[in-house]
Amino acid sequence: MSSQKKFYIETYGCQMNFADSEIVNAILMDEGMQAVTEAELADIILVNTCSIRENAETKVWNRLKEFRGLKSQKESLTVGVLGCMAERIKDQIIEEEQLVDIVVGPDAYRDIPRLIEEVEDGRKAVNVLLSLEETYADIAPVRTTGNGVSAFVSIMRGCDNMCSFCVVPFTRGRERSRPIESILTEIQKLSDEGYKEVTLLGQNVNSYKDGLNTFTTLMDRASRINPEIRFRFSSPHPKDFPDDLLYLIAERPNLCNYIHIPAQAGSDSMLERMRRPYTRDQYLALIQKMKSIIPGCSLSTDIIAGFCGETEEEHQQTLSLMKEVEYDLAYMFAYSERERTLAYRKFEDDVPEEVKKRRLSEIISQQMSIQHSRNKAEIGNRHIVLVEGTSKRSEDQLSGRTDTNKMVVFDRKDFVRGDYVEVEITDCTSATLRAIPIGKTTLSEYYSESVHS
Ligand code: 5AD
Ligand code: SF4
Repeated sequence: MSSQKKFYIETYGCQMNFADSEIVNAILMDEGMQAVTEAELADIILVNTCSIRENAETKVWNRLKEFRGLKSQKESLTVGVLGCMAERIKDQIIEEEQLVDIVVGPDAYRDIPRLIEEVEDGRKAVNVLLSLEETYADIAPVRTTGNGVSAFVSIMRGCDNMCSFCVVPFTRGRERSRPIESILTEIQKLSDEGYKEVTLLGQNVNSYKDGLNTFTTLMDRASRINPEIRFRFSSPHPKDFPDDLLYLIAERPNLCNYIHIPAQAGSDSMLERMRRPYTRDQYLALIQKMKSIIPGCSLSTDIIAGFCGETEEEHQQTLSLMKEVEYDLAYMFAYSERERTLAYRKFEDDVPEEVKKRRLSEIISQQMSIQHSRNKAEIGNRHIVLVEGTSKRSEDQLSGRTDTNKMVVFDRKDFVRGDYVEVEITDCTSATLRAIPIGKTTLSEYYSESVHS
């Protein structure tokens, strides 16, 4: 392949997709190709796609149409679709719309260089085979778009949960864990490169397994690599959340006191239709345990409004669950029917669009007010913030997150990206805390003062 070829990757969807794009970077750069940050400069444009809701797909389709415009100006331009949309729409994308030359599923990224060659020979190229083994364990991701401070590390792929609303098991295939040593090696490398925050990613991290190594073993070993790197993870499943992980988080300063724990809904009947194998009471008991084992732990969740057959009473129960838990953050969605899922085959998407929207907005506005009051309660508290960069609003301000994952903005002074800064919270909105900086610190120093731990 010619060494001057330039590629551009645009990524949609979850953190896992962003991590995947970094793997694709590595594969293409290994072929001598060059990553560029603007589509207009590229010979090859790759769109890493998401299928989780219809609007995610619509965004991608629109973008592909824009790229068709570029293609008409530059005939040699190759456009490819990667990731979750690949399997479902491969025929449509290549034959009907003439938008795309390459389609590559999430387990076939190693094949991209060959597929590009096929296109150069004048053919359309497709590989959407899913694998039972592929974890890209030996590929060191190339992080071209990050802030150099926080990195995602993928620890497993696929999902076996089969929640009735979710397309992921069909787009990403069966669950498989990446060997622990390859994960630890990647984290060591990030440590050597100066990274300060690592988020371990998987569709269902608490089922991580490599021989006798569990997710807790992995967190334990990862957190010992460098006590100045703090660790987060996403996402666990409420069904078998390990107690030993909670104790480990409580005891280890560099394991963040923040857990994303998707509830999806607040009533037993809805959880059952969603094929979520826990009851409201079991979920609440888990939350109680998290709060008592990890004092000050902050929690976030995912919620779906208007799933099949949702009654007003079930909706009220979702609201009441969210009120009871008091999440610090929530990702809230209107249900979007996806082909191939159990819900698509078995249930009817029968909640009218206006009702879905109204319920979603009730959920969002309740959550905003909970967040606002939880953030207000932070005023006067001290936190350790990892500086991620300049604040969006002002060049004179920096932004970063607390251990509990709350965004904080404060005066730049002499601090730089990657510093840990102790701050005191002075003001807030429902989304952001304002603070005055007290001084630069380290994780070990900050947590050795018993007042903070
Ligand atoms: N419609 C709406 N939201 C969905 N999610 C998954 N599938 C759907 C769907 N069909 C949400 C869930 C999941 C998050 C990643 O996306 O809340 O936890
Ligand atoms: Fe979207 Fe799910 Fe695929 Fe992530 S795994 S890109 S959220 S469909």
